Amino acid sequence: MTWIGMTHWCWLRAVGVFLLLFVGDLGGNSEVCSLCCIFLREDRGLNCTWAGNANTQYTLHLQSLKFNINKPSTVLNFTSLLGRTSILIPRKSLTKNDNYLLKLKHGAEEESYYFTYDDADKNLLIEPPLLSDVMFSGESDVSAHISWPIPSDNLHVAIRYQNLADTNSKEWIYADPSDIQHDNYEISDLEPFSQYDVQARYESNNTLRSLWSESRTFWTPEQAPVGPLDVWRNFDMKQFVILYWKPQHCQYPGSDKWNYIVTYIHGGGSNALKTPYREPLCEVKLPANSTHMCVSAQNNNGTGPPTCATTVCLDTKPLDVEIRVWLNVTQGVTVWWDESLNERCEDLTYLVEWTQLTEGGSKMKNWARRQVGKQNVTLPGKLDPQVPYQVSLFTLCQSDCKGPVSTIMFYSQEGVPSSAPNFSVLPLSSTDIFISWNEIPVWKQKGFITSYTVYLNSTVDSQRHPVSARNLSISGLLPSTVYEIWVTASTAAGEGTRGEVKVFHTKGIY
Ligand SMILES: *[C@@H]1O[C@H](CO)[C@@H](O)[C@H](O)[C@H]1NC(C)=O
Ligand SMILES: *[C@@H]1O[C@H](CO)[C@@H](O)[C@H](O)[C@H]1NC(C)=O
Ligand SMILES: *[C@@H]1O[C@H](CO)[C@@H](O)[C@H](O)[C@H]1NC(C)=O
Ligand SMILES: *[C@@H]1O[C@H](CO)[C@@H](O)[C@H](O)[C@H]1NC(C)=O
Ligand SMILES: *[C@@H]1O[C@H](CO)[C@@H](O)[C@H](O)[C@H]1NC(C)=O
Ligand SMILES: *[C@@H]1O[C@H](CO)[C@@H](O)[C@H](O)[C@H]1NC(C)=O
Ligand SMILES: *[C@@H]1O[C@H](CO)[C@@H](O)[C@H](O)[C@H]1NC(C)=O
Ligand SMILES: *[C@@H]1O[C@H](CO)[C@@H](O)[C@H](O)[C@H]1NC(C)=O
Ligand SMILES: *[C@@H]1O[C@H](CO)[C@@H](O)[C@H](O)[C@H]1NC(C)=O
Ligand SMILES: *[C@@H]1O[C@H](CO)[C@@H](O)[C@H](O)[C@H]1NC(C)=O
Repeated sequence: MTWIGMTHWCWLRAVGVFLLLFVGDLGGNSEVCSLCCIFLREDRGLNCTWAGNANTQYTLHLQSLKFNINKPSTVLNFTSLLGRTSILIPRKSLTKNDNYLLKLKHGAEEESYYFTYDDADKNLLIEPPLLSDVMFSGESDVSAHISWPIPSDNLHVAIRYQNLADTNSKEWIYADPSDIQHDNYEISDLEPFSQYDVQARYESNNTLRSLWSESRTFWTPEQAPVGPLDVWRNFDMKQFVILYWKPQHCQYPGSDKWNYIVTYIHGGGSNALKTPYREPLCEVKLPANSTHMCVSAQNNNGTGPPTCATTVCLDTKPLDVEIRVWLNVTQGVTVWWDESLNERCEDLTYLVEWTQLTEGGSKMKNWARRQVGKQNVTLPGKLDPQVPYQVSLFTLCQSDCKGPVSTIMFYSQEGVPSSAPNFSVLPLSSTDIFISWNEIPVWKQKGFITSYTVYLNSTVDSQRHPVSARNLSISGLLPSTVYEIWVTASTAAGEGTRGEVKVFHTKGIY
């Protein structure tokens, strides 16, 4: 048997003369045989396929082996189209029950394949089962029912399925043959709110009779929401609490119509409110000092279990745990922290939150929880240039929260400040002044402020003073002179706009 440029890993039982190869590709497992022919339904001829490079042309030579001394059988030639690794041999080129030799040729490579033109021939495959639509049953645990036609009593069917939502382990589960009925199967113990693929193939006496069918994809039916939610909150605003949670089963069709029930206690009374699904985070603003803040998902089939947010987070003295943040080329930010926390806790969890600093306070972008031993995490999300972001680290021990134990600010790209500092000028004498200013609001900084520049201008003199502090004493000015004064702020990207220009008269000498 010739291997036609196969670099993939190959396995499987050799059946008759054909060999199946499993080629791992992005779409999961696609199946190809080295060279095999599939007897088409309704006796429409053969679909011969092979493993090879679709960008080169192959020739199939088909010869009937029916010996006839007077009329040696002619060789029929078929050439593949570019981009295809299969050729359809029409019914009219084939005679029922004749024996054939098929040769696949490409340059010096050649592979031979013998078969008898009959759908029961063990060297030929038949088309895979046509699976019925999936029907569901089961009250508490979901099961899916599928069926298929059985063209001959000698055939039975093998079934495999996989949970597509379970991105961690996209592996086929093979149904126990003893549970598969002649023409139907019940897949039980399916996860709710999940998408599955199911495939079938014909077998006979431990011999493969078809390739796996195309996948039939289905979602398990809707039930009442299950499982906990990931709930978190802000700690930086005194006037209210913002509760955030990640909506459940975002990929589940219809889950965007779910509602969320928020309950909380405030001022001695218990309250409840309903909020709609929102991507990528749901949020609700609650009064300051609310307690017992819990969220549950709700759909037509019922309400899920509540998940509660931590009421307080002990703002311990900063532990100065080192945090590093870098932009992840593919998505969001990757955060690393030095795991030198000396927490006495059985089940310590880190919570890393990523917020955007805005005029209205910090706005949650994303968060993630990590067990001890995992010192870094990637938080997916979109980053905008010149926007101040902040990453904070919290520690959670059962229901106790501490933090932020460390905080770091970062930009995906710095710009120049969009505003200049507000400054005030204080005369010290007729020739000396003291200028001081406040920090620019963080959402106007557009980057890390590296320095300020103070400008003084008069008809006779112009001065420029770079300074890193937020104040400056200037002496040696001319008495009884009008000065124009302004201040700018700079980041690594450059100097920001100039703001208000103040006109200042130095005192005269008496
Ligand atoms: C023949 O098999 C190839 C490869 O499996 C497939 O792409 C093609 O659609 C089949 N053709 C027919 C007519 O069944
Ligand atoms: C098919 O190809 C073979 C060898 O290349 C050649 O001998 C034969 O005549 C061809 N058959 C037809 C029908 O062209
Ligand atoms: C399976 O194989 C055995 C022995 O090879 C044979 O006797 C039997 O008839 C076969 N059964 C079917 C359903 O083909
Ligand atoms: C929250 O409670 C604290 C102490 O119990 C109190 O000082 C503060 O005023 C309360 N805040 C609001 C907005 O009620
Ligand atoms: C859930 O609700 C949907 C729509 O209301 C309904 O069609 C479905 O049968 C329900 N599922 C269960 C398991 O009750
Ligand atoms: C980017 O994020 C992925 C996880 O999404 C992570 O595996 C990878 O290490 C990160 N890359 C860098 C450079 O941090
Ligand atoms: C991230 O953590 C994993 C283990 O948790 C480690 O293998 C990996 O090297 C870390 N990556 C970086 C960039 O620190
Ligand atoms: C300057 O002060 C005004 C009025 O107090 C304020 O609106 C403005 O935001 C301040 N600008 C800066 C850059 O601090
Ligand atoms: C400084 O003052 C002089 C004279 O008043 C004027 O011509 C010049 O444009 C001023 N410079 C700036 C940068 O405002
Ligand atoms: C001026 O700035 C320096 C450095 O930031 C600071 O230590 C000092 O207290 C400031 N002086 C006044 C009077 O604000």
